[in-house]
Amino acid sequence: MSKYISFRVDGHVAEITLDRPDKLHALNVDMLNAMAEHVRHIDRNHEIRVLVIASTGDRSFCCGADIIEWSAMSPVEMWRTWIKTGSSLMNSIRALAIPVIASMHGLALGGGLELALAADIRIASTSTRVGMPEAKLGIIPGWGGTQVLKQVIGPSRTKQLIFTGEIISAVKAESWGLINEVVEPEEIAQRTSSMAEAIASNAPIAVQATKALVDAESGRHDGPHLEGIAGALTQFTEDASAGVEAFKNKQRTNPAFRGR
Ligand code: COA
Repeated sequence: MSKYISFRVDGHVAEITLDRPDKLHALNVDMLNAMAEHVRHIDRNHEIRVLVIASTGDRSFCCGADIIEWSAMSPVEMWRTWIKTGSSLMNSIRALAIPVIASMHGLALGGGLELALAADIRIASTSTRVGMPEAKLGIIPGWGGTQVLKQVIGPSRTKQLIFTGEIISAVKAESWGLINEVVEPEEIAQRTSSMAEAIASNAPIAVQATKALVDAESGRHDGPHLEGIAGALTQFTEDASAGVEAFKNKQRTNPAFRGR
């Protein structure tokens, strides 16, 4: 379990809440494992009809994988612990029979956006901004990002977002189909809750059959092996070292990447 993750069930709605605001809710291995344990519990509990994933505060939904933690790992730890734990969590959220809503208040970057992409529905506030800045660190989105993003916004916009690492507004992300709804910051908790309640009050078997049918056509399982290999490879390039060093030094411009 992790002190940075809380879990509660209210009626038929469960909520997993990220609570590491001083690190903008960056995900470490303990947080991934704690979330995985809650997802296993949800999977076994048929009283739960909707899962909400949210964060405390208003600055960040989640700013991705904990760069300090993963950049210290060996290749084997990276493969066995990091990529697999993160990917398997995202897959297990996606595989839940019940609908999952990501309530995205603030920044959703890298692994944070991948976490939101594991949900079925994404609600954001006008202050939300999203992006996949991994190329600025010399790595790739390694928890399903390249594959799932493509399913949601298409290959061309996926490439734009990952190639550039640009951070886009919630309104633009909504126009791309990446976010379902954008509401005022003070309304996001209420809107998330009313949508979760509306879904939970509908017939659960009909709702879950619909999720299975819609996902059956998505081809979401293509490519995860390639992504795992590329993720493990890029982390040990000179470029990744330069990217991580720039992050640690709070350098806001890209280092001179050499393609090595
Ligand atoms: N991993 C580890 N720590 C992170 C983090 C991450 N992904 N994202 C933010 N943090 C930490 C910062 O290191 C800082 O910690 P510190 O106060 O101990 O130095 C804290 O969160 C606040 O972030 P800071 O950078 O000071 O805030 P900012 O407003 O100046 O910048 C961001 C915000 C999001 C632009 C910047 O934090 C950032 O670029 N984060 C990394 C995003 C990313 O690349 N995600 C993909 C990871 S694979």
